[in-house]
Amino acid sequence: MRSRIMFKNIILTGFMGVGKTSIGTRLSSDLGFIFVDTDELIEADQKTTIAEIFAQKGEPYFRDVEARIIRTVLKNENQVVSTGGGAVIRDENRKVFKEAGLVVCLMARPEVIFERIKHETHRPLLRVPDPMAKIRDLLESRAKFYSQADLIIDTSEKSIDEALREIKDKVRYARC
Ligand code: S3P
Repeated sequence: MRSRIMFKNIILTGFMGVGKTSIGTRLSSDLGFIFVDTDELIEADQKTTIAEIFAQKGEPYFRDVEARIIRTVLKNENQVVSTGGGAVIRDENRKVFKEAGLVVCLMARPEVIFERIKHETHRPLLRVPDPMAKIRDLLESRAKFYSQADLIIDTSEKSIDEALREIKDKVRYARC
């Protein structure tokens, strides 16, 4: 089937561990778009890791850098842009997302997120005694922002291939 891509970019939002990077990488190559991960650009810009930025400069500083990177990246087109799980909390970021393309939010149940991230150590917000409670709290406080996406895809019970197929089916005729 011939695809009709009607938008400038695809912006992937959603919580940590929902599959933005793995799905985004595949999606970009299937669509012939460039893949961009804003967390990677933040680390390159700051010449250090996200964990170090949080530890040395704090979350508000990180959010300022994140907003600047998002503004810069989304001046370009033909990209699949994977955004950090907390990027949606800033009004200005959500506005930039909407103006720059189709916003696709990947979701997963808290238990699934926990299983996927429990052996990882690079996410400062989840380096807490009770990561499961933190996941639930953050998901609840961010739900109103994630729900503003143009498309919402639950990846809880899906393989990367299945999630990819669903996104491509829905994205093919989407307009924004
Ligand atoms: C964050 C998610 C992370 C990263 C940072 C903060 C969040 O990105 O931006 O650790 O606030 O949810 P991923 O969602 O790509 O892990």
